[in-house]
Amino acid sequence: MSESIRVAVVGATGYGGAEIVRLLASHPCARVTTVTSSRLAGRPLREECPWLGTDLVLSSLAPERLDADFVVLAQENGFAMERAAEILPHARIIDLSADFRLRDLDVYAQYYKRTHLNPTLPSAPVYGLPELVGHEEIASARLLANPGCYPTATLLGLAPLERNGLIAGTPVVDAKSGVSGAGRSKKDTEYLFSELAGGFKAYGVTGHRHTPEIEQELGRAVRFTPHLVPMTRGIHSTSHVPLRAGVGRDELRQLFRDFYAGAKFVTVVDAPPSTKQVQGSNRCDLYVDFDERTGMAVVISVIDNLVKGMAGQAIQNLNLMAGLPEETGLPTSAVWP
Ligand SMILES: NC(=O)c1ccc[n+]([C@@H]2O[C@H](COP(=O)([O-])OP(=O)(O)OC[C@H]3O[C@@H](n4cnc5c(N)ncnc54)[C@H](OP(=O)(O)O)[C@@H]3O)[C@@H](O)[C@H]2O)c1
Repeated sequence: MSESIRVAVVGATGYGGAEIVRLLASHPCARVTTVTSSRLAGRPLREECPWLGTDLVLSSLAPERLDADFVVLAQENGFAMERAAEILPHARIIDLSADFRLRDLDVYAQYYKRTHLNPTLPSAPVYGLPELVGHEEIASARLLANPGCYPTATLLGLAPLERNGLIAGTPVVDAKSGVSGAGRSKKDTEYLFSELAGGFKAYGVTGHRHTPEIEQELGRAVRFTPHLVPMTRGIHSTSHVPLRAGVGRDELRQLFRDFYAGAKFVTVVDAPPSTKQVQGSNRCDLYVDFDERTGMAVVISVIDNLVKGMAGQAIQNLNLMAGLPEETGLPTSAVWP
């Protein structure tokens, strides 16, 4: 193992930033040196995030005084494209937002309702989904675009079918997220307990921002509908996929097991999984079945949106960028019950 890697977390009081601080507290080779907040500089992080049990003190972002090898940007969309160019001379960046995920900036503008600043960077951003992207590419990234939570769960479910040429039509993806997916800074009425508890609904039915990200990485169109469910953490993504003839249930399950044979965090399971069985872990549990009547595969994937869907995956990428085994310091067991 290498010497201690210094990590700055920009936006440490949000769900993503705080989860990075929590997970790195038990990392054997990395430590958080800097935590920033644009609202609370000078205040102890524990005041905003008492669950972290940390003595770190929040500061303002000053790229030339970062004291870090890596900077995790845990801010809203729009922040990274504004600040990446001035941070990159001082440290490598892992960005949790969507700013550098989409290669087509017109598509970014269409879905994120803002013009991309398209800053001049020393090298192109790398999309960091380690189970599907070459580890050498991730290892050499200076700016890594950490994937979205829905795309992580959905792509891990669809990639084995796509890459084996088995998909015969547009996959229909029906996905659900816990409310922490909206972030800690959301104050709208629709996120109140009294508005959410006891029911759930779809949103972004024909134009959700994660649709183009899934399509870019999969290489084909998908019919994607997300839902907001009254739980704290978790993504549950079900894909209904028309298959080419001649594939059976057993073959399909074996294909998934072979595809993820070397993967540290993907488990092909024998029964439909609950979001609860991956909560707090960096795992994605995948279930695949074949409906003979309709000739469709059904793939169900579950992740913790704050871990494999965000902070855990960011640390998995950081490990690879730092030359460490990708699983270093990351939990594979869930918190239960
Ligand atoms: N939540 C997820 O499941 C998820 C998954 C994948 C990717 N992402 C992406 O990752 C990025 C960070 O997401 P997030 O969920 O961490 O967002 P968040 O919880 O809303 O935090 C974003 C920023 O808002 C500020 N903030 C924190 N608490 C606040 C409060 N109570 N009131 C007002 N502002 C507050 C903080 O910055 P300052 O202290 O500097 O103001 C924080 O860095 C986003 O780009 C998001 O799209 C999120």
